[in-house]
This record gives sequence, structure tokens and C-alpha cells, in this order.
Amino acid sequence: MSHFSFRLWADDTSPGYDYVLTAEPTEVDLIAEAPTAAWGFNGQFPAPVLHAQQGQPIRIKFINKLNEPTTIHWHGLRIPIAMDGVPFLSQPPIPPGDSFIYEFTPPDAGTFWYHPHMNSTEQLGRGLVGAFIVHERQAQPFAEDITCLLKNWHIDKKGQIKRLSIPRYAARMGTPGRWPTINGLHQPVLKVPAGEWVRLRLLNADNTLTYRLHIPNAQAHILAIDGCPLTTPRPLTEHAMGPGMRIDLGFIAPSKGSTWAVWHGEHYPLLSLESIVSTKDQQIQADQSNVPSLPMNPIPQPDVENAEKISFVFEWAGALTPTAQQKKGKHTFWMINKRAWEGMSADNIPAPLATLKRGKSYIFILKNITQYHHPIHLHGHSFTVLKSDKRKIIPYQTDTVLLGKNESAQIAFVADNPGRWMFHCHVIDHMKTGLMGYITVT
Ligand code: C2O
Ligand code: CU
Ligand code: CU
Repeated sequence: MSHFSFRLWADDTSPGYDYVLTAEPTEVDLIAEAPTAAWGFNGQFPAPVLHAQQGQPIRIKFINKLNEPTTIHWHGLRIPIAMDGVPFLSQPPIPPGDSFIYEFTPPDAGTFWYHPHMNSTEQLGRGLVGAFIVHERQAQPFAEDITCLLKNWHIDKKGQIKRLSIPRYAARMGTPGRWPTINGLHQPVLKVPAGEWVRLRLLNADNTLTYRLHIPNAQAHILAIDGCPLTTPRPLTEHAMGPGMRIDLGFIAPSKGSTWAVWHGEHYPLLSLESIVSTKDQQIQADQSNVPSLPMNPIPQPDVENAEKISFVFEWAGALTPTAQQKKGKHTFWMINKRAWEGMSADNIPAPLATLKRGKSYIFILKNITQYHHPIHLHGHSFTVLKSDKRKIIPYQTDTVLLGKNESAQIAFVADNPGRWMFHCHVIDHMKTGLMGYITVT
């Protein structure tokens, strides 16, 4: 199939790898004025899109060409803990100049991504973020399958990276970028075949921003959320996609001559779609009633009736910050169940937030008692969002749930993957100033 042509460096120096990836300093052209000193996978931005097949092993050799240690985490993939890419919890940090072989079999098809899990403010902020696509066992009926990685760069008008984290923002919504890009381009125009079904995968790889996605005057359906297909696709009205989150949209490309744009709220268009000639122009009406749905992933169904319930409270801790710590440049603004964990290191691993029994079902009651929203992400498992006290939920599967301010939600899952799994907010500023922890499955 055509996506194998994306495979990189499948050369004789590295037999047996599907990909060889580096992380290294590089220059990228984000604005016309001057290049930006960034860090990139294979020295590129956007990073190479990695392609895997559901149920088939993939081997990736990773070489750290940064001047600091790193790891790679495969966000959303339900793979063994040894491959989860979290320093200290799942593997030792990969020192500069060293390499590590990541090898796993993705059980689920969908839109996932990869990023380091060390010094995330800077490593993700400078560009180490990439899409990881797992293809369904069966080909899907789309004429076009487009992946868009959204990142709002923290650069000034000369392309220089600005401060990636500012404490007064870290204590609020997180430090915002100012240059929105799609695959490294500002407000690009994507060509789509008029009248044909298109799959558009949007991935929020930003450190901070929650996008409020909608497409004015057009019909698109949500096919999957965070790599998990919906049982029934539903029309896109407005969808909030927090950092780390993804959405797969399906739509029939506009007829020739009309253009559509995907907007972030009322703020600005992220990208636009321009139709190119297709022979199917006439069939738009007929096809719209038959939205393709994606095959469900083999995620175990939790036994909600008998599940054990565990509460997690996400709280602001700003007022409790000791000044001495602040002087050392350490800030603690957030906590989970009254505990902040900032600065992960070999000698700073707290007890787990909870210890779960392998094979048992759990309901997590998540209470956000802050004035800000938090995309709460669990590693190694996909869960079902059952309900919220703020909005009507049709239960769906995901790896990240966006909690609005003062919102409580319930999620359920089977703890079927043994290991120590990160459980954290994906606003990087929040995570780095306390809003992270982990759960143990034994
Ligand atoms: Cu995108 Cu801890 O993850
Ligand atoms: Cu993750
Ligand atoms: Cu948060």
C-alpha cells in the first residue's frame, strides 16, 4: 500500500527497522523573516508521519542527538510499559548520543502521536511532536486521508523562540504561543478531490491551546476521537480539542469552486480546503446520507455495575507555594488529590495515586475544582467517558478527557495493562507544575 513509501531511511545501515528516528537541533522556516532554531525528529518540522498497521509489529530505532536526555512516548497506544517512553517509570532516560529501540504491536487503529516525555516544555515546545497513524486492517473508503498536526509556536516576529513557560500563565491557562501552524504552515490551503469522501485527521500537538473546531456552512462528521472510533459518526458542530487530543473527520469534499475553512472558534481559520476536479461532483447529495463509520478497536468493555470507584480531585495549589522554592525557579501550582508532583527525576518518584488490580474494572471520578480546563490523559489504556455534570455525554472511548472548569466527569476502564502509567494534564505548563501522577496496575 502507498503509505509504505513514507518509510524513512530503510537503508542497509539499519536492517530490520521500520524507521530510524533522531531528535536533533535544526532550523525551520515558520515565518518568512527568519528561520527558527527548533528541535526536530530527523531534523524536520513537521516530524515524519509514522505509519503502522493494526496488529503488526513495528520497530523504531531512536537516536538522541540532543544535548540532553530524552525518551519517546507513543501517546494513545496501548502497548507494554517497557515501550511507554516515560523516564524512570518505564525506562532510563536516553543520554545524548545514545539510542533505544522501540518495538511494539499497536492493537488499535487510529490517529496517535509521539513526543518526548522529558523536559517537555522545551522538547515539545521546540518541535519534537509527530503524528503516528495506525492503519485499519481493512482499507477504508476515503479518496483522501490527510493528517494535520496543529502547533501554535512560541515565536516572536523574528522567528526567535520566546519563553515557553511563564509562571503567571503556568498558574492559569498555560503559556500561549502566537503563531498557529498546520504541518508547519500558517493557514494552509489543502487540495481535496471534489465530491469524494475525505478523512481529515487533526492532532493537537500544542503545549497549551485548546482548539474549538468547527467548519462553518459545511457538513462534516466526527468519525473518531483520540484514535477511538465512534460507534455512530456524528455531525461536527463545535468540538473542543485540548492539547494531546485528536479528531478524525469525514466529509465529502466541497464541489468545485466552493471553499471551506476549519475554524478555531470565532478567532481565526486554521486551514482551508480547496476542491480540485473530480468526476463525482454530481453525487454529493446521494453520498452524504451514507457516512462511513470506522471499525471499533478491541478495547475491553468495563463492567460498570461492579467497578470500583476511585476519586481524583484536580486542584489549584498556587496559594500554597513556598517562596523559597519559587526562588529556585520551581513552581507548584496544581495538585491531584492534594499532591503536586513537579520535576520528575530518579529520586523524585512519589507513591502511585492508586494501585489497580489487573483485569478489574474501575470508574474514576474526576473532579476539576479549578477555574481552568484540563485535558486529563492516562497512559497505556483507553477509557470510556460515562458522564459529566456539565454536559450531556454519549459514552465514547478516548485516552484524554477534557475537563472544563469546575466540571466533574466519570470514566471507566479495565485495568488490563500491568505497569506504572502516567496520569496527567496535557497542558504542559500544568503537568510541569504539579498536575501529574501515575497509577500502578499489578
Ligand atoms: Cu502525550 Cu504523558 O503524554
Ligand atoms: Cu500518553
Ligand atoms: Cu491542566
